[in-house]
Amino acid sequence: MARKSIIAGNWKMNLLPSEGETLVAELKERIRIKENLEVVICPQMALVPLALDWIYDSSIQLGAQNCATERAGAFTGETSPELLKVLGCRYCLVGHSERRSLFGEVDTTVGLKAQALLSMGITPVVCFGETLDQREAGTHLTTIDTQVNAVFKLVEQTGWTRLVFAYEPVWAIGTGKTATPAQANEIHRFVRGRIKELAGDIVANATSILYGGSANATNAADLLGEPEIDGLLVGGASLKAADFAQIIASF
Ligand code: 13P
Repeated sequence: MARKSIIAGNWKMNLLPSEGETLVAELKERIRIKENLEVVICPQMALVPLALDWIYDSSIQLGAQNCATERAGAFTGETSPELLKVLGCRYCLVGHSERRSLFGEVDTTVGLKAQALLSMGITPVVCFGETLDQREAGTHLTTIDTQVNAVFKLVEQTGWTRLVFAYEPVWAIGTGKTATPAQANEIHRFVRGRIKELAGDIVANATSILYGGSANATNAADLLGEPEIDGLLVGGASLKAADFAQIIASF
């Protein structure tokens, strides 16, 4: 099964409606999406229903940044995967390092969210990655292994080939310090190897693994040139139409 290539923009908690609308309009003018590539924007929740209108008549896909572990009920402030589905989201990030470090999200929650999304037919983009301390202490592979393992424990086997992962080393997020293409490729290869052990060859070969962390118009082509890097999850540079368009053109 050929792996899907994805370039996704995580807008994080940025952009007001008028700014988001202008950004998408400019993107639609600038980009030509190649076959085998999915381009996704992930606006903050309140913009999602508006963004569905903005992307109309284009092949840009919609994603959310987070969701609840449950389908509906008494969970004040949460967003159900069921609602995301109705609002047109094809993707949803889970376990972003900002969710883990600022909002106490743990591996179990991440796995449950991934399963909840899959049950609604939404593709979870499961983020994982080590902190600078962990890398310097040489414990990064153990950290990554634990994060990836938890997902396969909690997601039903029928959903395994529909998972997407994103390696986002915490030390590279918003810092301007990108992992080198070789460094990222090495981690992706490690993770694919672990998926092979946990879930078998078919799943491992079908699983897209994106890289995120200061990806930009200058380094995108080199990162995408690595055999194990199936796409990019872009933060800051996805907020500027010219930059994001150039990243998409590097595919
Ligand atoms: P930056 O591209 O701003 O480093 O953010 C990466 C990220 O967190 C994407 O999810």
